[in-house]
Amino acid sequence: MTTSSTPADLRTGTAADVVAGLTLEQKADLVVGATFWTTAAVDEAGIPAIMVTDGPHGLRKQAGAADHLGLENSVPATCFPPAVALGSSFDTELAERVGAAIGLEARAEDVSVVLGPGMNIKRSPLCGRNFEYFSEDPLVSGELAAAVTRGIQSRGVGASLKHFAANNQEHDRMRTSSDVDPRPLREIYLRGFERAVKATQPWTIMSSYNKINGTYASQNPWLLTEVLRDQWGFEGLVVSDWFGVADRPAALRAGLDLEMPTNGGVSQERVLSAVRAGELAEDTLNACAARVVELVQKSLRGAETEVEAWDSEAHHGLAREAAARSAVLLKNDDALLPLNPRNSVAVIGEFARTPRYQGAGSSQISPTRVDDALTALTEASSGEVRFSPGFRLEGVEETAGAQDAELRAEAVQTARAADVAVIFLGLPAAAESEGFDRQHIDLPAEQLALVDAVLEANPRTVVVLSHGGVVALPFAEEVPAILEGWLLGQAGGSATADLLYGTANPSGRLTETIPVRLADSPAYLDFPGEHGHVRYGEGIFVGYRWYDARELEVAFPFGHGLSYTSFAHSALQVSSDDAGLHLQVTVTNTGDRPGREVVQAYVGRPGSAVARAPRELKAFAAVALDAGESHTVELTVAREDLAHWDVRLDDWVVEGGEHVVAVGASSRDLRQETTVEVPGDEVAVPLSTEATLGDALAHPVTGPLIRDSLQQAVQVGEDDVFSAEGLLRMLKSFPLGRISGFAGAGLDREKVAQLIAMTQQG
Ligand code: BGC
Repeated sequence: MTTSSTPADLRTGTAADVVAGLTLEQKADLVVGATFWTTAAVDEAGIPAIMVTDGPHGLRKQAGAADHLGLENSVPATCFPPAVALGSSFDTELAERVGAAIGLEARAEDVSVVLGPGMNIKRSPLCGRNFEYFSEDPLVSGELAAAVTRGIQSRGVGASLKHFAANNQEHDRMRTSSDVDPRPLREIYLRGFERAVKATQPWTIMSSYNKINGTYASQNPWLLTEVLRDQWGFEGLVVSDWFGVADRPAALRAGLDLEMPTNGGVSQERVLSAVRAGELAEDTLNACAARVVELVQKSLRGAETEVEAWDSEAHHGLAREAAARSAVLLKNDDALLPLNPRNSVAVIGEFARTPRYQGAGSSQISPTRVDDALTALTEASSGEVRFSPGFRLEGVEETAGAQDAELRAEAVQTARAADVAVIFLGLPAAAESEGFDRQHIDLPAEQLALVDAVLEANPRTVVVLSHGGVVALPFAEEVPAILEGWLLGQAGGSATADLLYGTANPSGRLTETIPVRLADSPAYLDFPGEHGHVRYGEGIFVGYRWYDARELEVAFPFGHGLSYTSFAHSALQVSSDDAGLHLQVTVTNTGDRPGREVVQAYVGRPGSAVARAPRELKAFAAVALDAGESHTVELTVAREDLAHWDVRLDDWVVEGGEHVVAVGASSRDLRQETTVEVPGDEVAVPLSTEATLGDALAHPVTGPLIRDSLQQAVQVGEDDVFSAEGLLRMLKSFPLGRISGFAGAGLDREKVAQLIAMTQQG
C-alpha cells in the first residue's frame, strides 16, 4: 500500500488538500462506487460514503439490498408528473417547487444526489424513454431542467443532469454511436445542457451510455472536459450512467470522475495498474478523486441546510397541482368541456380505474398513494356516473376478438345512456419503457375501435389520454374534445377530474409536435440506425423545426394547448441592444374565467447564409390572468441565444441582419410579428486559395480591399461590377486560387497571396 501524509480535515480543507493526504489505493477507491448506490468511504481520512439514487420525478430509494432495475422495495415517495407532463406546464416556478419537494424527500432519506432531471431531446417519437424527457426543443428542456435542478439543490441535495449527451434512443443504447454533425450537436443536443449547466451549476452530470461520433460519452475528453468544463465552466462532478464505463482509465482521462455502480473492485485494479504502468497520470486520478471529495463536502454542508419535515399530504397536493398544469387540452369543440356536474357521465376505459401515471424502468417509484380518475369523477359529480372498462390492459393478444367486442358493446350501452361520455385511452405499461423503443405510435386497435363505437352512440364524447410517448390520433377530427394527459403522476386521477369539471383551467402546452403519421417525423429514415451507428440525418431540423421547414401538416403543433378562457395578444414591441432582444406584449384574458396563457416568442432569420428552421422558440413566459385582466409580459432573448454554431470557426456566431420575431400561443398560432435588425458578430475566417471571392468580400479585412480592386479593374459598360448583380453573383463563387489565374480581375497571384496572409495573422 502506498503511504501518504495525514489527510487534511474534510470539513475545513480543500478537496485537493484532502486528496493529497490519501494513498493511491484510497484514491482509486474513491472514483468508483462502493455499492450500487453509494460512493466509497475512506474511514482513515474521515470521508463518509454518500448515497445517490433515482430520480427524476420522485425518489426511488431502494430499501433493502439493491438491484439494478429492481423496482420493488423502494421507499414510498411522491410520484410527481414525469418530465413529459411537467414540461408541458411551461412553468419553471412550478418545476422548481416540484424539484424542491423531491429534494426534501431526498433529505429525509439521507440521499445526497437525486439522479435527474432527464433532459435529452425527443428526437423521434419512438424513443422508449421520451416520457422521462421534457421536449423536442432545447430551450424548453434547458429551462425546465434548470428549474428542477434549482429546486432540488435548494434543499442541500445535488441534482444530476442526464444523460449527457445525444442519448435519444433506447435501441442498442449501451453501444450505439450517435453520429451527429457539429451544428445539430451544439444547437439542439447540447444547447439545453449548456443552458442548465450555466444557470444552475448542478452538483453532478451523468454521462450517457452511447458513443458520440464514435467515442463513448463516458470516455470522451472533448465532451466531458473541453465542452463541459472548459467552455461551459462546469464545476461539479461527472458520474457515469450505471455500467456505462467500458475503459476506466480512459474515462478518467476524459474527465469522468465517478464510475457507478461498484463492479466488485475490477475498476480499482485497472486504475491502480494503469497508474503504476504510467498509462494514467496520477494527477488525473487526483483531480477526479478531488471532485468526489468535493461532492461529499457539498453533501455534508447540504445536510446542514435547515429543512422542514416533509408532509406527504402537502406533496400529494403539489403533485395534483402540477398534474393539472401539465395536461394539455388539445381540442374542445363547442365548449363541451368543462363538464356540467349535474350531467350524467359514462366513464369508459380501464385507465379510468387503473391509471397509468409513470413510466417503466429506473425512474419507476413507489407512490405514497394513487388517485384514480373514476373515484375522483364520481366524487366531483352530482349526476350519475357509470363505468365500463371498454378494453383490457392485459391478456389482449391471447384472447382478442369476442371479449373485446363484448366490452365494447357494454361501453356503448353506457355511453348511450349518459349525457356525456369520457373515454380514457392510452398505452399499456408494457408498450413503452426504458430499455427499448416503440415500433410504431399507434394506440391499440381495440381502443381505436372503442372510440368509433362510443362516438357513434354518443357524439358528446371526450377522450382523455395516458401515455409517455406521442401517439397518433386518427380520431382527432371526429372527437369533439381531447385532453392529453401524458403520464400525470400519482395525483393524475384527481387532477384530471379537476380539469374535466373546470375546478382547474387547462394551461399545458405541447413541448413536442403530435404528427399526423410517424412517417412524417424528422428522424423517420434514420432511426434507430444499424450496426452500432445511428446517423442524425435530419440535422438541426428536429421537432417543429422540421415540420415547419417542410410545411407539413401536423395533428397538433408544438406549443399548442387550449384553455376554458381565451386570450388576446396585442401591442408587440421589440428592441435590440448588445444584450439581445427585449420584447413586450400585452396579453388580455378575454373570457369569463381566470386562466393561464403561455406566451411564446419565436425568432427566424429569413435569407440566412446558413440552413435554418423558419422559426425557433427563443423565449416563453406563463402569465395568470383573471377574467378581463390585461398584463404586459416582458421577454428577453439573450444575444447568445440568437447565435448559430459556425462550423468554420467552431464557435457561436450571431448573424447580422433582419430577424423576424413572432409572438403567439403556439408555433402555428402566431398572433403578432415584427422585424428587428440585429448587428452581427464580426466573423473573420482565415482565407485560403479555396476560399471564394464571396468569402473574401465578406471578410472584414479583405472585403474593402477586394472591393476596391474589383471596382477599378472590372467595368461592365459604364458601371463597375457591383452594379451588375448577375455577374457579381457568378464571380463570387470563384475560388481565389482560380480567380488569380485571370488577367483583368485585379487580383493576381501575388495580391491574392498577400490578402490570404492578412487573414491568417492573429
Ligand atoms: C439509467 C439512469 C439511472 C441509472 C440508475 C440507468 O439504467 O439510464 O437514468 O439513473 O440506471 O438507476
